[in-house]
Amino acid sequence: MQILDGIKLAKEIKQEIKELVQNYKDQGVRVPHLGAILVGENGASQTYVDNKIKDCHFVGFESSELRLPTTISQDELIAEIVKWNNDDTLDGFIVQLPLPKHIDQEVVINAIDPNKDVDGFHPTNFGKMALEMDTFLPATPYGIMEMLERYNIPTAGKHTVVIGRSRIVGRPMSILMSKNGNPGNSTVTLTHSKTENLEHYTKSADIVITALGVPGFLKAEMIKEGAVIVDVGITRVDDATSPRGFKLAGDVDFDNVKEKAAWITPVPGGVGPMTRAMLLKNTLLAYNRKK
Ligand code: GUN
Repeated sequence: MQILDGIKLAKEIKQEIKELVQNYKDQGVRVPHLGAILVGENGASQTYVDNKIKDCHFVGFESSELRLPTTISQDELIAEIVKWNNDDTLDGFIVQLPLPKHIDQEVVINAIDPNKDVDGFHPTNFGKMALEMDTFLPATPYGIMEMLERYNIPTAGKHTVVIGRSRIVGRPMSILMSKNGNPGNSTVTLTHSKTENLEHYTKSADIVITALGVPGFLKAEMIKEGAVIVDVGITRVDDATSPRGFKLAGDVDFDNVKEKAAWITPVPGGVGPMTRAMLLKNTLLAYNRKK
């Protein structure tokens, strides 16, 4: 078994972006600017947003962060989004999900200017992705595609099984793996909570991409020898021995699967760092389109 090392790759990508930004600075032109809106106190979301801002500092992007209380109304949140849509100094921004229950996620995503939607969640961008047009790709599936490409993992003609059909990971992943190109050209099965006999599909998969959020779900007996395993699951589980009181667990029973898989992403240190790097790439795209 070999490790698909997201930390190493993400570092390389961030270094590439940092050098580009240094060139802009040397030429005296403005640098890319990313914004992040965080509503409420969700601990994982706060960490994600903190990390996105840290990444901006590392590569030399300008960043803005807007923290709003859980009690904010949907209309107030949309008013903030409209301000950022109209802010010419901002290339792109994200609204961290999930949002509090009283806010309709669809309405919020629809309010973001598609040209600034560096998460690739707006229906316009999702549609463009599905039509294989140039657009912002959702960062997690984009990061997985980049990882498969940089590790030269063959995908053409292979059977890829995606577990989970979320709008952020599973569904876009299934679209990207089946697209014309490399990576891509895969024969994709998109499985979900209503799939009967999931093992039937995973056992025949050359590539399994799991985005379920159930720690340790995927076991050795569910995969075929030599499969490529991509674990998107990242669930906080209680751990009294950790100073933070929790540890991060993937969907894959790593120790159980590692002898049988050819390639595997660890959790943490696999898909997560790639997701962060791809948000920077999308911001760079937004910046270059505007120039
Ligand atoms: N919540 C979980 N993943 C993501 C992401 O990639 N973007 C945003 N905005 N929220 C998320």
